[in-house]
Amino acid sequence: MSDSAIRHFLDLDTFEPSLLRAMVEDGKTMKLDPTGGDKPLVGKTLAMIFEKPSTRTRVSFEVGMKQLGGDVVVLNGGDLQFGHGETIADTARVLSRYVDCIMMRTYEVEKIQEMSQYATVPVINGLTDSTHPCQLLADVMAYEEHRGPIAGKIVAWSGDGNNMAASWIHASVKFGFELRIACPAELAPDPAILDWARKAGGKVTLLHDAEAAVTDADCVVTDTWVSMGDDDTNRHNMLAPFRVDETLMAKSKSDAVFMHCLPAHRGEEMTDAVIDGPQSIVWDEAENRLHSQKAILAWCMGAREF
Ligand code: CP
Ligand code: NVA
Repeated sequence: MSDSAIRHFLDLDTFEPSLLRAMVEDGKTMKLDPTGGDKPLVGKTLAMIFEKPSTRTRVSFEVGMKQLGGDVVVLNGGDLQFGHGETIADTARVLSRYVDCIMMRTYEVEKIQEMSQYATVPVINGLTDSTHPCQLLADVMAYEEHRGPIAGKIVAWSGDGNNMAASWIHASVKFGFELRIACPAELAPDPAILDWARKAGGKVTLLHDAEAAVTDADCVVTDTWVSMGDDDTNRHNMLAPFRVDETLMAKSKSDAVFMHCLPAHRGEEMTDAVIDGPQSIVWDEAENRLHSQKAILAWCMGAREF
């Protein structure tokens, strides 16, 4: 059964802000020295389980492990016995005998919770239908590299109230910035997360007007209209008013940045002019997945004490 001493990285809401801050800072250090100082993960192996496609997560975790001296095993969900009747609990018990850490990208959050409950090694959330916590460390790092501390800033989300929106809500509370979410009423984030943010003293507002959300924002964020596993019925019609184009971007502060976790669907959630424009920091954001995840890996496997 689960051992609270195991350093899982499941969701930002359960972490002390100081620990998340330390990981972002260590990501900045990793960027300066890709070996992490002395290749602290020599002899360690990460298993990566993908039940959904990936480019950034797949490559950044593999390259990150190798730069820190470790190795990886990549497993497609459909190829594993757990896609064919073996339980996640038994898979967790077995993988824990071979590897030092498990990263999992899956659909239902319950699957990763079960994996972490039965694994005797750390489990990292590489995205579920509900959240994408690894991405947020990279995002905070990218914002701060360009504009300094994110605390006290205004971040505007315009689009689907999806897994990324949920992790931005978590990050808003933990890193102390204001978050305005503009989305269609039908695609609002889980009320439980909004309630958690309110109770935690966060400054998170739910709106249904993109212009109101981005006005005077320091950062404008969006994401795909159809996340992996979503049914796309009517989403394009509902989300069209939330597209980030140059006119919407112009309502934000003149030095606002544009962010997107990628993959982007050009012409849908944002125009080419915005993603390719001078305010876009999406490529640095993608690069920082590598650096910030190395901080997560080093902490999970005990190579860092924050
Ligand atoms: N942003 C992100 O997680 O990208 P991938 O789906 O390519 O891993
Ligand atoms: N919301 C997107 C994020 C992809 C990294 C999805 O879940 O497909």
